[in-house]
Amino acid sequence: MNLLVYYFKMMHKVLLLVYRWQKYLFFFIHQLYNIINLLKNKISVLAIESSCDDTSAAIITDGVVISNRTATQIVHQQYGGVVPELASRQHLIHIIPVIDAAIKDAGMDLQNIDAIAFTRGPGLLGSLIVGVSMAKSLALSMDIPLIAVHHMHAHVLAHFAEEPKPSFPFLCLTVSGGHTQIVKVNDYTDMKVLGSTIDDAAGEAFDKTGKMLGLDYPAGPIIDKLAKAGKPVFHFPEPQVAGLNFSFSGLKTSILYFLQKAVAENPNFIQENLNDICCSVQSSIVHILLKKLKKASEITGIKEIGIAGGVSANSYLRQSFDEEGKKHGWNTYIPAFEYCTDNAGMIAVAGYYKFLNGEFCDQNVTPLARMEF
Ligand code: KG4
Ligand code: ZN
Repeated sequence: MNLLVYYFKMMHKVLLLVYRWQKYLFFFIHQLYNIINLLKNKISVLAIESSCDDTSAAIITDGVVISNRTATQIVHQQYGGVVPELASRQHLIHIIPVIDAAIKDAGMDLQNIDAIAFTRGPGLLGSLIVGVSMAKSLALSMDIPLIAVHHMHAHVLAHFAEEPKPSFPFLCLTVSGGHTQIVKVNDYTDMKVLGSTIDDAAGEAFDKTGKMLGLDYPAGPIIDKLAKAGKPVFHFPEPQVAGLNFSFSGLKTSILYFLQKAVAENPNFIQENLNDICCSVQSSIVHILLKKLKKASEITGIKEIGIAGGVSANSYLRQSFDEEGKKHGWNTYIPAFEYCTDNAGMIAVAGYYKFLNGEFCDQNVTPLARMEF
């Protein structure tokens, strides 16, 4: 009996102590949790990209992209452009195997993932819906946070997928199938568009020229290859656009008129001059891009400069950009090929830095075909 009384007295004292010191106890437990996390030092984000015709999944752990898998859709080749309805159906087929492959490549399982990042927009709505729905379902079932990423922010942040990485602030010329922008990047999550296209994007100029020449879609890489055996012997008028903005629709029209006239005189003109035509068009597009980039560097005084987006995979642009950089004392940055065209690795980088900033979204998030930068 005495022992029982003693026991209750002791318990009472312990409870009083816990009550009195609870603030410090909770603090201690919280710090212990933080220390364990720091020792563990692993934040892994699974990223999903489905804004256009590529289905991609990637995993980033502590800022390092450790897997990046992409399934491309060849079904569009015969149509000369992306068919939205076909693209979303293909995403449905590809998305689970692609996520599975990314997880396996990383040597992980889903339990190791701390958050799901996804492309919210801009892009094709039907395509975006597939990726967004998959991201929301995974986050809900695993009870982990969701991170919405702007596709064009991610193209810029592709520079942080691998070394060497630019330092802030830097300028980024982002050239893709739907966008052409010069961006001033102040930080991972703070960037501003200084100039953009007022009509067609640089990638569209490549793809539409390819269509006129009877090439498959996307024509950019094909023109790049054909241009290697050609010379820039044909000249097209340069667009006159104010400030740091671009225009490519005038170039497209002058290429069309040029080809119509030449084919009327010689029906075999395209076949006989394909390499030279590709080389001439490519050098016009690259000249327009680099002229504005040089202007942006002069205006801002920034010499830390990168190029990104699908068109930055162009070998002539990469070479000319490097040469221009040497001429003007720029530090130039070009992401590896796999991070230039659409990929989830770049979404993972953007998602990781948003994770560190605590920028999460909830299950009400919807895809956006158009999305403010
Ligand atoms: O960034 P991206 O993969 O998708 C969009 O977000 O649009 O860019 C696709 C664009 C297409 O227009 C494609 O023709 C172009 O990038 N592209 C190239 C090259 N590789 C891809 N353009 C020129 N030369 C290349 N090597
Ligand atoms: Zn893109």
